[in-house]
Parts: sequence; C-alpha cells; structure tokens
Amino acid sequence: MLIGLLKHIVYPPKSVGEKKLSEVFSGKWVVITGASSGIGEALTLRLIKARANLFLIARNEEKLKSLCDKAQEKGCEARYKVIDLRQRQELDSWCETFREELPNVDFLFCNAGKSIRRAINDSIDRMHDFDRTMDLNYRSMVALSLALMPSLKRATGRIVYTSSVSSRYPFVPGWSAYHASKCAANAWCRTARRERKKLGVKVQIAYMPLVYTPMSAVNETYKKLPAYSADEGACVLLKLAMSNKFRYKPWWAL
Ligand SMILES: NC(=O)c1ccc[n+]([C@@H]2O[C@H](COP(=O)([O-])OP(=O)(O)OC[C@H]3O[C@@H](n4cnc5c(N)ncnc54)[C@H](OP(=O)(O)O)[C@@H]3O)[C@@H](O)[C@H]2O)c1
Repeated sequence: MLIGLLKHIVYPPKSVGEKKLSEVFSGKWVVITGASSGIGEALTLRLIKARANLFLIARNEEKLKSLCDKAQEKGCEARYKVIDLRQRQELDSWCETFREELPNVDFLFCNAGKSIRRAINDSIDRMHDFDRTMDLNYRSMVALSLALMPSLKRATGRIVYTSSVSSRYPFVPGWSAYHASKCAANAWCRTARRERKKLGVKVQIAYMPLVYTPMSAVNETYKKLPAYSADEGACVLLKLAMSNKFRYKPWWAL
C-alpha cells in the first residue's frame, strides 16, 4: 500500500487519449530508433493505433518485421531498417540515401540506447565501452538528425531525444560511459534549441526517469524501485512531442 502510494507520488500515472493521438499522428511520418524493445516498442504500438506511418530502426529484424506487419494490417505505411547504429561507416553511407527515401518526416524519435555500468577502475582495458555508448547514445542521434534535417524542415518536423534524468544529477559512480554519452546528446539538443530559428526544426529532450524495460531489468535493485511501465515511458515521449515544451522532466528532478 505504502509502495503503491509512493509510486503514485513519485511516478504520477502517464497516459494519452487515443483520439488525441490520432488527431496529431494519423498519416504523419514517424521515424523511431530502438523500436524493437522497451520504450521504443511501446511507442511504436501506440503510433500504430494512431495510424501513423512508421520507419523503424534497430538490429532485431524479426521484431521490426512483425511490428511493420502489424502496422500495415492497420492500414499504416511501415518500413524498417536493420542496422547497428554504432557502425559509423555503415550508418553514414545509409544516411546519404535515407533522406531521399523519406523526403518528408514529421517526427524523429531518437530513442535507441545502451547503458553500461562499470567503474572507471574496472575499465582500464575497455575503451570500447566508452566508444560504443558514445556512438549509439550520442553520435547516431546526431547523424540521423543531420541526415533527416531537410526532410524534417519540409514537414516542420520535430526531433525528440530520450535522455536520462540521471544526467541532471551529481554523477553516480559506475556510470561514466553512459552519463558522458547522454550529456553529450543533451548538449547537442540544447544548442539546437538555441539555433531553432535558423534550423527550422524543433528539438526536444525527455529526461526519462526509471522505466521497467529489458535495459533496466539487468539491475536487480531497479526491479524493486517504483518506475514507469514501457507504455508510460512512451506516453511521456508522445506528450512531449505534442507540446510546445523543450523538455520533459519528472516534477521532482532538479
Ligand atoms: N529504462 C530506463 O529506465 C531508462 C531510463 C532513462 C532513459 N532511458 C533511455 O530510454 C531509451 C530506450 O531504452 P529502453 O529502456 O527502452 O531499453 P531497451 O528495452 O533495451 O531498448 C533499447 C533499444 O535500443 C536498440 N539498440 C540498442 N543497441 C543498438 C544498436 N547498436 N543499434 C541499433 N539499435 C540499438 C535496441 O534494439 P536492438 O537490440 O534490436 O538493436 C532496442 O530497441 C534509451 O535511450 C535509454 O537510455 C531508459
């Protein structure tokens, strides 16, 4: 009972009406990275119901294909790209053709992410941990945003980045790779906000709190803490994308 009450206060329920979602997203082109699991998958399912046209990106082809099949059954246009977003060369050469493939994009949700928890002292021979978090959580977001900028401009589009509320706090030991990559992405988004007039595209950040997903399930302690469901995480992103706000943060975040 106490835990339930605590969850309600710290994580007030998040939802968004299906009618409202259809009004905003029906027939719009939405690109989602990290669509195969957790928050990205829940976001995809919400947008299928809203009859958005979808372009899904991740590595798990089986999952992407089944989501696209579901979307097409609902009458949405749906395509997918299987790619490891950490592979710079492959990503850069695909980006050159991607904007031709999608000349008008209304929303780009940069949501794919990887967290690594390891102390710096245990990372002496693990420079790749820092490279892969930076490549996925920061660089792929910038590469896709730049690639799709002309397509987003034509549709007065938006870029929504899934950041972490932990990047707003004094840094917790063990998370140097993850926090550095999320903070780099935050800095890019905050600069893009200042350049909005010239850029012509609105960039938004969701400082996401704990969400029950395969990513957070790796940490046993997190399973016992209050958190949002993946669907509530998706609603956070959708509500932000429908608002004029620059950012979402939980009410208790500094
Ligand atoms: N869960 C939380 O508590 C929490 C809190 C704050 C922020 N976030 C952020 O929320 C976002 C979504 O995370 P989640 O919790 O939903 O995690 P998740 O269930 O593990 O999903 C991560 C997604 O990213 C994709 N991905 C991972 N590595 C990739 C790669 N190399 N190339 C392409 N796609 C890749 C995965 O797809 P494939 O494996 O198929 O490639 C998957 O679709 C992340 O940016 C995360 O940092 C999560």
